[in-house]
Amino acid sequence: MSGFISFAYQHDQLFAESVSLIDIANEFGTPCYVYSRAALTAAYQEFSRAFAGRDHLICYAVKANSNLAILNVLARLGSGFDIVSGGELQRVLKAGGNPRKIVFSGVGKNQEEMRAALAADILCFNIESEMELLRLNQIAQEMNKVAPVSLRVNPDVDAKTHPYISTGLKENKFGIPMAEAERIYHAARELSHVHITGLDCHIGSQLTEIDPFIEASNKMLNLLDRLESQGLHIAHLDLGGGLGIRYNQESPPSIKDYVAALCVTVGQRKQRILIEPGRSLVGNTGLLLTRVEYLKHAPHRNFAIVDAAMNDLMRPALYDAYHEILPVIKKAGAVSTYQVVGPVCETGDFIGHDRKLTLAKDDLLAVMSAGAYGMSMSSNYNTRPRAAEVMVDGDTVHLIRARETIEQLIASEKVLD
Ligand code: LLP
Repeated sequence: MSGFISFAYQHDQLFAESVSLIDIANEFGTPCYVYSRAALTAAYQEFSRAFAGRDHLICYAVKANSNLAILNVLARLGSGFDIVSGGELQRVLKAGGNPRKIVFSGVGKNQEEMRAALAADILCFNIESEMELLRLNQIAQEMNKVAPVSLRVNPDVDAKTHPYISTGLKENKFGIPMAEAERIYHAARELSHVHITGLDCHIGSQLTEIDPFIEASNKMLNLLDRLESQGLHIAHLDLGGGLGIRYNQESPPSIKDYVAALCVTVGQRKQRILIEPGRSLVGNTGLLLTRVEYLKHAPHRNFAIVDAAMNDLMRPALYDAYHEILPVIKKAGAVSTYQVVGPVCETGDFIGHDRKLTLAKDDLLAVMSAGAYGMSMSSNYNTRPRAAEVMVDGDTVHLIRARETIEQLIASEKVLD
């Protein structure tokens, strides 16, 4: 999706759809995550249009943003879901997601999570090790069920992304090594309470080139052809998530080109194609609204201390990630170079380095492209209540998560008798 379709200036004032961000800040306070329903819908439809005519299922990677309202909007559009925990399963069910469109990924599914997913009759478990397969077979037997499974195979492809979010290299903890895949598929066929339905891979996140996807897909297709020639029936091919978005200067493939390239690679094969996009669905549909608390002009640096911090948006501190920072009101005046930082007591607590801005105390700033892995990775570090979240729909603003209170934060703690 190109840029921030639903966030634009009107007379030098930044709006989310038809609502001024100033009004949102006044009503809901800051820091506050602001999402656009129109942008989310547009991103989903771009995926679904690109697949037109091809049997497919888009399984939104819930980890990117798990707010119930986001899940509900996607569920209403017909989306499936990729979950990685029992918590995410509960969220999807509560948001009205169809369990028959849920795939369950992750290297460490525990017994309760497996039981809950079997009870819900999900579409597929993406299995990441032989031990996990055996445990699932055992639990399914106890429950008198048959578990649908895919093996997540590690294709050993360099995703050319940040090392912390690269998952498809043989040294990563993810997936079953390619060399073992056939043996484990045949072992799975002998198990009484699992049923093989698919083949799965995921090579990493924020990929800005198409080649690694194609390389991984080709490796998967070779394996798929071998398995089928050995008499195994594979009903779907899950090619994972990972399509990047534009944060700064990147130029990732468009959703349309990415999906088209996958479809061409899969060719005439009859398998249903699954994908697990997270960031490319929600990343540019949200921003983090924050207010300048103080300006501090040290001899060699100018600091803008804002009320959002690394606990609200961890990506800069964790990956040195870049998020564009825009003034909510564009104004004339001297431009200075600022370190935009939060109130948390760590030097790593920054939102942006060396940003050229015209600022005064109490100004509002919009930290862009914060819809994915923003709120979902937030924490209460420094006993900071988590931000509010709102979703704008035309000229209406819905509060979709109230700001936490300090009382809520400490409610489950106890001092010794
Ligand atoms: N499927 C699986 C199995 C995954 O592990 C992931 C992401 C996805 C799908 C979705 O990938 P996406 O389409 O969003 O790239 N916290 C990091 C990103 C971690 C991604 C983890 N896995 C960040 O903020 O950049």
